Amino acid sequence: MKHILAVDQFERPWLEGLFAEADRMRALPRDAAPQRGKILATIFYEPSTRTRLSFESAMIRLGGNVVSTENAREFSSAIKGETVEDTMRMVSGYADAIAMRHHEEGAIARAVSVSDVPILNAGDGPGEHPTQALLDLYTIHHEIGQIDDLNIVMVGDLKYGRTVRSLSLLLRQTNNCKITFVAPDAVRMRDDIKDALDASGVLWHEEADLHAAMEGADVVYQTRIQKERFASEADYLAVKGTYVIDAEAMTHLPQHGIIMHPLPRVDEIAVEVDNDPRAAYFRQARNGVYVRMALLNQVLS
Ligand code: NCD
Repeated sequence: MKHILAVDQFERPWLEGLFAEADRMRALPRDAAPQRGKILATIFYEPSTRTRLSFESAMIRLGGNVVSTENAREFSSAIKGETVEDTMRMVSGYADAIAMRHHEEGAIARAVSVSDVPILNAGDGPGEHPTQALLDLYTIHHEIGQIDDLNIVMVGDLKYGRTVRSLSLLLRQTNNCKITFVAPDAVRMRDDIKDALDASGVLWHEEADLHAAMEGADVVYQTRIQKERFASEADYLAVKGTYVIDAEAMTHLPQHGIIMHPLPRVDEIAVEVDNDPRAAYFRQARNGVYVRMALLNQVLS
């Protein structure tokens, strides 16, 4: 596999191999340096903390180097009117692989069409975020010990949140998982994902009561309301704060259950939840490094 564009590329045996590799990366000695001399470019047209830094940390831990623009919308020639195609054609001459985030759905696919080196989609607008979905499923595997037969609750902005879109699609590679969507009316999961789940026989339903949904959940995946995608502040404020996971909500989650969140969090998980051992979101963020190490190793080999 050269480029990492969308979760449709991933099949179960490949996922199992990747997770085993990520386990190996967790314990990789610092002097192993399997990608010594290689260069990763991180080109981000949209803000990011975790995704960009974990890609860069992953490359450095593999012994490679990084060149980066963290605000390509303003700090690259995009502001002078350069097209994505021209920029990426050129960057592909400077690096051995490119991790790229863009605000437009489809921009990464355009970059792929002109790039000589592997491109990893680090999020394209409200479209997909495939490497996040991989680290999310890896986190479930690592925390719970299985990825089949699970009740998974997705909460928050399911319309604009690309992480829940990609994770839902990736769950088609598991067996017998059931998904519960909990979202304010204005940001319910879009039909394209629901149709894809139906076509693969993944059971899903919508639930308005978060506490009820948390009873019997193995995984509760909370998300931020994607403020930047709303037409107006008023539309955003109308849905913000509808579903908050706080200490009271945690009394509804089984002892073996976990809370995940791609982060950043605004106020949809109360800080009081952070010390609960079931709060897995900071461990999840750290897993991003191991999964991205495994991915980079693969596309660079
Ligand atoms: C998410 C993203 O950018 O889609 N963050 C991430 O990559 N970990 C989620 C978000 O911005 O809410």
